[in-house]
Amino acid sequence: MTLVFSGIQPTGNLHLGNYLGAIRQWVTLQQQYPCLFCVVDLHAITVPQDPAALRQHIYETAATYIACGINPEKSPIYAQSTVAGHAELAWILSCHAPLGWLNRMTQFKEKAGKDKEKAVLGLYSYPVLMAADILLFQATHIPVGEDQKQHLELARDIAGAFNRHYAQEFFTLPEPLILPQAARIMSLRDGTKKMSKSDPSDYSRITLTDDADTIRLKLRKAKTDPLPLPETVAELEERLEAKNLLTLYAAFKEVTLADAVTAQAGNTFAVFKDTLADVMIEHLAPISTEIKRLLGDVAFLDTVLQKGQQAASARAAGVLNGVKEIIGLPTL
Ligand code: TYM
Repeated sequence: MTLVFSGIQPTGNLHLGNYLGAIRQWVTLQQQYPCLFCVVDLHAITVPQDPAALRQHIYETAATYIACGINPEKSPIYAQSTVAGHAELAWILSCHAPLGWLNRMTQFKEKAGKDKEKAVLGLYSYPVLMAADILLFQATHIPVGEDQKQHLELARDIAGAFNRHYAQEFFTLPEPLILPQAARIMSLRDGTKKMSKSDPSDYSRITLTDDADTIRLKLRKAKTDPLPLPETVAELEERLEAKNLLTLYAAFKEVTLADAVTAQAGNTFAVFKDTLADVMIEHLAPISTEIKRLLGDVAFLDTVLQKGQQAASARAAGVLNGVKEIIGLPTL
């Protein structure tokens, strides 16, 4: 049976990459398939968090899912830490995940930086928790941006290792769903770096709560090159910032990159950036207004998260019991 599962870390600054790479796919998928959407707060604490900010960011992330079009009545939304099975299954899976596999994870290498001795264990075992998130529900399809591809391959490998070890086809191997046209939205300041919540420059990203003036300003300041916009897609390979802005234009207009290039060919960046700002503001303004409205109704968000927790827990219980039975642990 198909089940779509995905999640975002509640670390603030949800941006165009999160929206176009992940959430927008979710909105389409929920029309066709059962879905579960998680606010992955246990992942967020792999780096230091301020407790008050974390609490607020959990609400903000849930509000963003809803404001972008996720219907919580149809697709449960919940906080990862409220379903104990995530952490429990992560432990069990960590006993089936060879260190050699974890040592290959590029995100750990990037996040741990030079001083690996000081990196915490949770940051290292993060991909095992992510595998547990997915396998806890036997989720089949995982809509994410390209940066999560390696983690999803690991989730498949761990599921396969478990199945082989116990000679049972217990876990379903999850399939990543990565939209080629929005797989990797890049920083507005540097076309070689992905747009990220943790980039120290606010000008590197447009967030889903930016107002119209801020969006316009950030786009005006976005890095470009001195040439007019190109006539062909092939020319974009050498012009990464132009490619990123045209990718954003194509995503918001819902046209192909080739059509976006044709529409803007020969324009100056000044003219193009103004057009892009108009398109983006038209699309994002209702979302940011709705996020703000929802954040004013914490009681509603609490109800959504509680109902989500119940739905997710119910589904997780069966899978977790199945795992325990296979291993030889007592079941409830
Ligand atoms: P996170 O919180 O870093 O990002 C959330 C989602 O946004 C996508 N994304 C991007 N897509 C395109 N361009 C970008 N610049 C960009 N930046 C982020 C991410 O690929 C992701 O889909 N480990 C995950 C969260 C997670 C998860 C899971 C996802 C935990 N457990 C289980 C799916 C299934 C993460 O840190 O995403």
